[in-house]
Amino acid sequence: MTDTALIILAAGQGTRMNSDLPKVLHEIGNAPMLVHAIKAGQSLDPERIVVVTGHGGEAVAAAARDWDDRAEIAVQTEQLGTGHAVAQAGPLLKSFDGDAVVLYGDTPFLSAETLEAMRDARERFDVVFLGFEAADPAPYGRLVMDGPLLSRIVEAKDATPEEAAITFSNSGVVAADAGILFSLVSEIGNANSKGEYYLTDIAALANARGLTVTAVACPEAETLGINSRDQLAAAEAAFQARARAAAQDDGVTLIAPETVFFSHDTAIGRDSVVEPNVVFGPEVTVESGVRIRAFSHLEGAHVSRGSTVGPFARLRPGAELAEDVHIGNFVEVKNAIIDRGAKVNHLTYIGDADIGEATNIGAGTITCNYDGVMKHRTRIGARVFIGSDTMLVAPVSVGDDAMTASGSVITEDVEPGALALGRARQVTKPGMARKLMEVLRAKKAKLQGK
Ligand code: UD1
Ligand code: CA
Repeated sequence: MTDTALIILAAGQGTRMNSDLPKVLHEIGNAPMLVHAIKAGQSLDPERIVVVTGHGGEAVAAAARDWDDRAEIAVQTEQLGTGHAVAQAGPLLKSFDGDAVVLYGDTPFLSAETLEAMRDARERFDVVFLGFEAADPAPYGRLVMDGPLLSRIVEAKDATPEEAAITFSNSGVVAADAGILFSLVSEIGNANSKGEYYLTDIAALANARGLTVTAVACPEAETLGINSRDQLAAAEAAFQARARAAAQDDGVTLIAPETVFFSHDTAIGRDSVVEPNVVFGPEVTVESGVRIRAFSHLEGAHVSRGSTVGPFARLRPGAELAEDVHIGNFVEVKNAIIDRGAKVNHLTYIGDADIGEATNIGAGTITCNYDGVMKHRTRIGARVFIGSDTMLVAPVSVGDDAMTASGSVITEDVEPGALALGRARQVTKPGMARKLMEVLRAKKAKLQGK
């Protein structure tokens, strides 16, 4: 099979975002839109990934490499047009033998099927553009077809009234043999209304060389570009709608799907149930048969089979729940491993901790993990009973089968099977409450002059 190189254009400033952040770094489903564009292209299993950067280039390059460390960067110092942008990838791909596919960092929703259809068309045509039937074609380049062949592309600003009447529009995505693409691109001039080097000119240039050019069509939703905050919000909504549908297809019950928010990488197993108003931040994996109860927030967490989380629970990065763990209401878990069958049901903070199998953590327990400078770990063994309102001042450990008395402040290690009490002994004074009340009432009466 032919090798593939992606060329992802991401040099534009995105003025209409009105932002200090480069446009392609604005996020959808908690990942930069650039990452969505790369992910789409990765369905082609590319050998090379070249990102063309300009505005905010360092940050854009870092985001690309962070997602895929094979990403190579071509810098376009001046934004002289899409043709000029593609040319910047030329030196990196000089000896590349295979197809180049041009994608856009601000067009995150291309499907694998569409890219596959372009690859299929490449078996019969030298240059393959991606088009779509635009509901409002006004802003787009128009594809001038001659049967199955694409004659040329005219930009909106340069279109005659007849050309402007065409609704089959250019997405900008194009695939061709890399050598041919760069050779065509080198012939592009800038004698047009914008004075830019239009990538679209390669359609006519290819025809002039006797190469075959076509356009395959995809749904308009896939080519949705993002230029404003408004379009970013619409893209987020579209992403969430797809993520919800995908989760349901995967056998996940969403009781109120429109209230559940996913990240680009959320993975949930079959026959799990997600109750209303749950938010999945990045890097969450949930196995099958899990129940995530209402109003929970998860991020960087793994939840194993048969566990329940929430309502109103917060799992933060490094929360690792083994099978059949119960995390209840107003419980926060961070950087902690909670072993099989353990229960943390109420009003608790578990941070930087290991909790053993079948251990029960009482209401109001806190792992005091931070001394103001450093973080320390709390280690609790199996079948331990931590009494309500225990403060575990880390670093500290509690052995298997041990107990702590409610209200204890545990500062020293507890050995297996021991009961630790770390609180003042109770003193009870008979009749004292009544006496005290009388004194207080008398004081109040005197103050009020009675
Ligand atoms: C381009 C197409 C148009 C198509 C439309 C789809 C051209 C000449 N026109 O027009 O036919 O209908 O996309 O949205 O290609 N970019 C760079 N460097 C540059 C110029 C652009 O990286 O020098 C990047 C931008 O960041 C952007 C993309 O290329 O992501 C498209 O550029 P833009 O200027 O928005 O092209 P359009 O005028 O929308
Ligand atoms: Ca555009």
